[in-house]
Amino acid sequence: MNLRDKHILLIITGGIAAYKMPLLVRLFIKAGAEVKVVVTAAAQEFVAVKSLAIVSQHPVYTDQYLQTNDADLAHLDLTLWADLIVVAPATANTIAKAAQGLADNLATTAILATTKPVYFFPAMNDQMYQQPATQRNLHQLIADGRQVFEPETGFLAEGYQAKGRLPEPATIFNLVVQTYWRQTQPQPLAGKRVLVTAGGTREAIDPVRYVSNHSSGKMGYALATAAYAAGAEVTLISSVARPLTIPAKVISVTSAAELMAQIQAEFSQQDLLLMAAAPADFRSAQPATQKIKKQAGQTDLTLTLTKNPDILASLPVAHPDQFVAGFAAETENLLTNAQTKLTKKHLDLIIANPVGRQDSGFNVDQNQGTLLFRDGHQVTLPLMTKDLMATEIIKQICAYLKL
Ligand code: PMT
Repeated sequence: MNLRDKHILLIITGGIAAYKMPLLVRLFIKAGAEVKVVVTAAAQEFVAVKSLAIVSQHPVYTDQYLQTNDADLAHLDLTLWADLIVVAPATANTIAKAAQGLADNLATTAILATTKPVYFFPAMNDQMYQQPATQRNLHQLIADGRQVFEPETGFLAEGYQAKGRLPEPATIFNLVVQTYWRQTQPQPLAGKRVLVTAGGTREAIDPVRYVSNHSSGKMGYALATAAYAAGAEVTLISSVARPLTIPAKVISVTSAAELMAQIQAEFSQQDLLLMAAAPADFRSAQPATQKIKKQAGQTDLTLTLTKNPDILASLPVAHPDQFVAGFAAETENLLTNAQTKLTKKHLDLIIANPVGRQDSGFNVDQNQGTLLFRDGHQVTLPLMTKDLMATEIIKQICAYLKL
């Protein structure tokens, strides 16, 4: 998920955590957004206006802008420009004013003047946060359609642990992106449960060595994210730990046998299975219990491998209410081999992707391929990022299922 070409108005009010906001600006910009920053007079005590101007690549907007902007509509300029307003940290004072519809500075005037989504990240002393007045104001903001995120429990500036801390910039960033996507993108998978698998399995030879492949899990993680953005509740079974920016149930596995056991435990509760994992087709017939030692003069080591079960083929042949998609990773005869796997594994869809190349497939950020649906319908996707490809795959599945 990204924020490409989105305009974010970041309103910083007077809390100690304001000093971390240049990092948040950078995260938004790195995700493709353009950011303008409003600071209240109190916020300027905690964060340098110059730092914010440099990282945002825009002048920083202070209350002075209300007086000096000759158009006399400064609050509207900014709110018309913004796609989204983020208030972080949001003090009890600004929350109270916003809940009452007061507009006595640029920050509160912009909040009052907007019809765009406004996300509040309250941060304050725990006593202030718990006060009935603050809680009433927060509920009022939610009732007015604003998004309010809970502060974290942690070490407060007062020197003790309690609820009131602003989440770290990376957490705020993830919450903003996920929430914005869910609010603004079509949600064809709302109410659907999607199981995604990712990564190559590792089959032990002995306690320190294994047989595996080059799958990085990138394609699976991209699919999990795209399914979430389309509204799904996501379960991800993965053999690799990568940063995941969505809420999902994550199950980690190592071997194909573990992957199979977890898929079989989950499958009946899922509406869709997207099998991007690369389970090893073979495992050591007899993994050694101790590290295999080199013998003096030894030049070869023969390992006997035995076949792993085919996980997809082991699922119920008929799954009328569930949609099952696999990937075919092929170095030759891409479409013919993929078609055979589609039939043999009783799939609704197979995504045939060429592997063994530098620009796409295993362990790179890009991919390409052809979607072969059970009914003969085919869609070819040219080389693109795995994020985009995942979004496109989800779009095509939803179109096929008429969601
Ligand atoms: O992880 P990345 O680095 O991002 O790379 C992505 C990918 C290239 C690994 C991915 O796009 C992909 O192609 N995944 C499937 C890899 C694979 O195992 O392909 P296969 O053609 O051998 O198997 C066909 C299908 O059967 C796959 O969906 C596979 O998950 C499944 N399978 C395979 C073996 C097995 N024992 N049981 C299975 O169910």
